[in-house]
Amino acid sequence: MKKEVLLIGLGRMGGAIAHRLKNLSWRVVGYAKTKESRERARKELGIEVIEDYEEFGRFEGERLFWIMVPHTAVDEVLNRLKLLLKEGDTVVDGGNSFYKDSVRRYEELSKLGVNFLDVGVSGGVLGKGKGFSLMIGGDEEAFRKWEHLFRDLAYEGKGYAYLGKSGAGHYAKMVHNGIEYGIMEAIGEGFELLKESPYDYDLKEVARVYKEGSIIRSFLMELLEKAFQEFGNLEEVEGYVEDSGEGRWCVKEAVDRGVSLNVIANSLFGRFDSRKKDIFRNKVLAVLRYEFGRHPFRKKD
Ligand SMILES: NC(=O)c1ccc[n+]([C@@H]2O[C@H](COP(=O)([O-])OP(=O)(O)OC[C@H]3O[C@@H](n4cnc5c(N)ncnc54)[C@H](OP(=O)(O)O)[C@@H]3O)[C@@H](O)[C@H]2O)c1
Repeated sequence: MKKEVLLIGLGRMGGAIAHRLKNLSWRVVGYAKTKESRERARKELGIEVIEDYEEFGRFEGERLFWIMVPHTAVDEVLNRLKLLLKEGDTVVDGGNSFYKDSVRRYEELSKLGVNFLDVGVSGGVLGKGKGFSLMIGGDEEAFRKWEHLFRDLAYEGKGYAYLGKSGAGHYAKMVHNGIEYGIMEAIGEGFELLKESPYDYDLKEVARVYKEGSIIRSFLMELLEKAFQEFGNLEEVEGYVEDSGEGRWCVKEAVDRGVSLNVIANSLFGRFDSRKKDIFRNKVLAVLRYEFGRHPFRKKD
């Protein structure tokens, strides 16, 4: 079985994927847009990094290209790759792309005899250790051909699933992110109430006890305890929370299908509000996003 991946995008997630694969004896050949990122990847990840797309041309046999770039850059990357793709190659989009774009890309690449798999990746940068959760859509045959790759990347070798035809992976990731928005919002609200309560709670201690065997124990609760350890009571953290698109797609999709997403929609709107007001629960979300994905948060002056 071939253990070689050609990876485009060497940022937070591309770097984590490269790190994990390299430790599992995969040959990873990377490319990133800027010279600085390419240099950094060579130094910090110790992988082969090429200077231009044409260099991918020297790799033989059926190749797997893994794209890990912001969704706005995927078409640009594919336009470059199309010049060198061959029948039998497989392209994976592991970023958070809108599922309808993935179906369009699948159809375009099918005409060239190239497989396209849309893979939702969850687990954040910490996935480089125990592995990621992978939601996979596309042709089952292409998935089977590269199942050994997904198994190696997956959390404890089990965190992967083939979910159906093209778009199914990114659709499942879109819903996953919507759920994530909702859970984070609930945690944020709960901790805001704890903070405003008549008790002088040590919030780190509350997060710790919630994490130990309670019904709401979760990875996010573990990260929140860590965030309180790292950032105290978040006085320095601005309650400004970004969104990177999946929540909006999720809510729009629900509107199109007549499904009520009360919690998820409200949590999305909460993020919008956070950019206007400085409220405590949004500080909680900001540091949680920092914890799982190293998304930067704004600091107060
Ligand atoms: N961070 C997370 O927790 C997380 C979790 C799951 C999924 N995702 C998804 O994974 C994808 C990547 O996210 P990330 O957090 O790793 O982003 P990131 O840290 O900003 O890295 C993006 C990478 O893409 C490269 N890139 C950008 N535009 C490019 C282009 N036109 N051509 C070639 N390379 C280009 C960048 O190169 P330069 O550095 O040279 O500009 C960089 O290496 C996104 O779709 C994101 O939504 C992120």
